[in-house]
Amino acid sequence: MSPLSQMAETLIGSEIVKLGNAINERIRQGETIYNFTIGDFNPKIFPIPAELEKAIHAAYEKGYTNYPAAEGNLALRQAVGKFIQDREGLAFSPDEIQIASGGRPLIYALFRVLVDKGDKVIYGVPSWNNNHYVHLTQGEHCLIPCTPENDFMPSPADIRAQIKDAALVCLCTPQNPTGTTLSAAALKEIGEIILAENQRRGPAAKQCYLMFDQMYWTLTFGETVHADPIGLNPAMKAYTIYIDGISKVFAATGVRVGWALGPAHVMAKMKAILSHLGAWAPMAEQIAVAEYLGQTQAIDRYLLSFKQAIALRLNGFYDGIMALKAQGHAVDAIAPQAAIYLTVKFDLVGLKTADGLLLADQAAVTDFILREAKVAIVPFSAFGAGKDSPWYRLSVGTAVAEDMPKVMANLAQALGQLKK
Ligand SMILES: Cc1ncc(COP(=O)(O)O)c(C=O)c1O
Repeated sequence: MSPLSQMAETLIGSEIVKLGNAINERIRQGETIYNFTIGDFNPKIFPIPAELEKAIHAAYEKGYTNYPAAEGNLALRQAVGKFIQDREGLAFSPDEIQIASGGRPLIYALFRVLVDKGDKVIYGVPSWNNNHYVHLTQGEHCLIPCTPENDFMPSPADIRAQIKDAALVCLCTPQNPTGTTLSAAALKEIGEIILAENQRRGPAAKQCYLMFDQMYWTLTFGETVHADPIGLNPAMKAYTIYIDGISKVFAATGVRVGWALGPAHVMAKMKAILSHLGAWAPMAEQIAVAEYLGQTQAIDRYLLSFKQAIALRLNGFYDGIMALKAQGHAVDAIAPQAAIYLTVKFDLVGLKTADGLLLADQAAVTDFILREAKVAIVPFSAFGAGKDSPWYRLSVGTAVAEDMPKVMANLAQALGQLKK
């Protein structure tokens, strides 16, 4: 076949979606597999808020089926502004808010607004999809390999080392895939690094911006507190774009309403790009979300039980993995902090299975866990980490609580057969 664009020919689709679909196909064919690969929710376990669902139905019944405003309906932008003001203490006016059909089109539009071909984009690995957005915009990948010692977050020193002439720094906290968060101290320092770099360049030069993906920011557990870059450095308001929305906060990944918050001139350009893509959130959903965001008590009630159910699963798997570690197995985990993800380690390369098969590399380990324990998880290599990384993302959005003892028993049984 004749070639398509160079960009398209070299684009990699989402490896996580591919893996999740392959597992689901095997489940459809009758196999029992505990599929913890997809960063999504099983709506039977985690439905969207009942009030939101009702409001969506009502909006369709009232005939809200025409085009929404290109920047998002004013009522929704006002509701988002109030929600963020009340819950994060940040002030954004409607012209500093852009609505789209979820976080993805907003991220794509933001990259298109800020990143020219060859521009430096700084991001840590593992991280969610930054590599693909850099590819789509033909930017220069400035990767920061992150380590468990830093909870897999880029450190200020890592950012400082790459910041010269960068167009964009990408941070995500709470982070997909790790479920970890960036500390306020680190975020404050990173803000100072960006501000100092922009001062060095001067106002006539292209500035460095921060994409601050806080898609999971309400889902923090225990002592963990979500830090935000503008609260820590008010001057960062001129250079920060928040990516946010209802997908994860209200288990509403299929409803498709997201928002970006940032400088008005950046929002205006994103609006122009999004209007060509037509990636608006549907009219009825915008009407409904605007109404729902005003229902403070309903939201508090929803978040309380939603977060409890997620924490139960994250803590259950964490305790199970730590028990296996205490028994001497080469596994580990990072204590849950936030989001719907647990970071787990299966350091099994070099061991042999009961039938003498050598686990020669990490791909063999992933296959082994799937084959012997019937547990499907995503290796960090799917998020840009090295192929030999022993770390995995375990997503609990589809986890049935009653299955957890069986999952841990399967893992114990599989690990128990391994020999040096
Ligand atoms: C960190 C992060 N940002 C953005 C998104 C995109 O969200 P949406 O489903 O609203 O496009 C996701 C989805 O998985 C995510 O994990």
